Amino acid sequence: MDRSVEHKAVADLVEAEARAELARLADSLAAANTAYHTLDAPEMSDADYDTLKRRNAAIEARFPGLKRGDSPTDRVGAAAGSGFGKVPHRVRMLSLENAFAESDVVDFDDRVKRFLGISEVTYTAEPKIDGLSLNLRYEGGRLVQAATRGDGEVGEDVTANARTIADIPQGMDGAPQVMEVRGEVYMAHADFAALNARQAEKGEKAFANPRNAAAGSLRQLDATITAARPLRFFAYAWGELSEPLGASQITSIERFKALGFQTNPLTVLCRSPADLVAQYRSIEAQRATLGYDIDGVVYKVNDLGLQERLGFRSSTPRWAIAHKFPAELAWTRLLAIDIQVGRTGAISPVARLQPVTVGGVVVSNATLHNEDYIAGRDSKGNPIREGKDIRVGDWVQVYRAGDVIPKVADVDLSQRNIDSQAYVFPEVCPECGSPAHREPGDSVRRCTGGLICPAQGVERLKHFVSRGAFDIEGLGAKQVEMFYNDEDLPVKQPADIFTLAARDAATSLKKLKNRDGFGEKSVTNLFAAIDLRRNIPLDRLIFALGIRHVGEVAAGVIARHYGTWPPFEAAMAVAEPENEAWNDLLSVDGVGAILAQSVVDAFRNPAERAAIDALVAQLNIQPVAVRAQIASDIAGKTLVFTGTLEKMSRAEAKARAEALGAKVAGSVSAKTDLVVAGPGAGSKAKDAERLGVRMIDEDAWIALAGLS
Ligand code: IVH
Repeated sequence: MDRSVEHKAVADLVEAEARAELARLADSLAAANTAYHTLDAPEMSDADYDTLKRRNAAIEARFPGLKRGDSPTDRVGAAAGSGFGKVPHRVRMLSLENAFAESDVVDFDDRVKRFLGISEVTYTAEPKIDGLSLNLRYEGGRLVQAATRGDGEVGEDVTANARTIADIPQGMDGAPQVMEVRGEVYMAHADFAALNARQAEKGEKAFANPRNAAAGSLRQLDATITAARPLRFFAYAWGELSEPLGASQITSIERFKALGFQTNPLTVLCRSPADLVAQYRSIEAQRATLGYDIDGVVYKVNDLGLQERLGFRSSTPRWAIAHKFPAELAWTRLLAIDIQVGRTGAISPVARLQPVTVGGVVVSNATLHNEDYIAGRDSKGNPIREGKDIRVGDWVQVYRAGDVIPKVADVDLSQRNIDSQAYVFPEVCPECGSPAHREPGDSVRRCTGGLICPAQGVERLKHFVSRGAFDIEGLGAKQVEMFYNDEDLPVKQPADIFTLAARDAATSLKKLKNRDGFGEKSVTNLFAAIDLRRNIPLDRLIFALGIRHVGEVAAGVIARHYGTWPPFEAAMAVAEPENEAWNDLLSVDGVGAILAQSVVDAFRNPAERAAIDALVAQLNIQPVAVRAQIASDIAGKTLVFTGTLEKMSRAEAKARAEALGAKVAGSVSAKTDLVVAGPGAGSKAKDAERLGVRMIDEDAWIALAGLS
């Protein structure tokens, strides 16, 4: 097919070319939507998708009469995962922290030992399977439910599909009454090749890699399709258990094997970081001949009692780490440098690359980080890449490490054109024309346009509807972008989402339900999903505001500190360095001056404040959800540790207190409920005495924490 017209300017197209191209664009965009939303196999980058969509809109604007009934302009993406029931995980499904260098492994071992205050720890080492994780629930020895990881809290019910996988036992004797088995669904290389050959015979699209094939196969609404796909399963972890499987990681895995599960034969015990690294090297050497994809080696503390003491950070266990294999590399041509503007105004350069396969995935975009990186220096002005800068037209080295965005690592100067020009980084925002400033000490240049910048506006809305934030079903990044530019029902700021239904009801023509891609049912569902989120927990709201430096963890601690919206809002309205409200904000563990200033600035800026007020007027803000399963004497209390603790490390004491629902603060104030003072406690103990705060010693703390 002659696609050369696609490089013609829209203004130069004749009608027949425009008609043909609109048809092609409708096809490609529909296929990209399906690949993205339904098949778990994105085949087009967001940027390429947007480029096609913009070209489609431009052609329609020039030839309005040619606009198709199935025009991609009107289309709303399929709701992700619609069709599967939701399964709340009884025990959260976590991810793993990554290690890349050997020194990271030594650091991990050091941290574990310091936390526990012991000098010898035994670990397991096993391959990190590159598939997707699955939770299998057995009750009375029968498989009753299989669920994907989802966001870690809620997954999708894929029970019917999991039953078709030969490695997954339907039932067994001798299992605990309740047993949740976790592991990885994957596809072996040979099965993957055969599947792609069958796809080709049927004229269907090939899968990019075994992981995508496994994900696409497991998430089939029709289980007979899954049954025809050769999926496999390795068991390596567990969720809820009515009784322990063993005293250690390794014996628990052996128990899985005895119960009929496949466990990875390369799982071994290691007694030092040197042992771990040796096992890593050994597994790496076998990687090519294993017959399935692995992307690293996972190390876990073997003793389950120690695992329990180590506990969890917000989304990763302290007792495990994934030592990843080095990133895959490839060389390609840098075609252009584009600039993207993020939700906090950060101006990020993006490399547009001649497409190249890196580790089984076609890469056509990569990050270039910031202007210093392009210029060949680090944030302190020291040379990187021996000071070589990166120019459009250069031959560059691209790499991918895990799921992260591809990066440009190096440039080959011997391939550089003699007439190439150094890249000049923009000093105004390419989207709104506002000056883009770089503050001292910040490696990033930022658009100063704030809410007037359309790019920041759209990115803020995307963040607002994202998973940890409002997470409105049927209103994802693509839909938000569409509504942002909608002439009849614009959504320019979060509050507009909640007035959408009322505004739609007030329009006489062009009601949402009459538009292509919508319809009565989808509009009813969308409005219901929006209404559902009017009840929003405080932590999600604070995170959703998209304030710089305020991630999910910070939003959580801030919300737990203030409890409800009115005291939080009142404090932010008056807080300024050194007054009481400011010091109180800083007393929250995890809140530093930079973060505090950023929150206060957001509430002080009149435009931002107006947007927050408009939003809050639409919501019923719920007190922050107190973490379940906590019924302890110290839940909800604020503790301060001071002096030396002799029976557990400070880190463990803090983690234990938080696990019991208490807040741990760094300094003593009138809001402190309890001070745990070890030997050598100084000014904090004095503050406690002066303020009349209850003070206990370490033994009393251990009893209180239920550890004695
Ligand atoms: S343990 C609490 N072991 O890696 C830790 N995970 O990056 C539970 N994975 O979501 C995970 N092989 O899908 C563990 N041998 C292994 C693994 C493994 C692959 C995946 C798993 C997890 C992800 C974390």
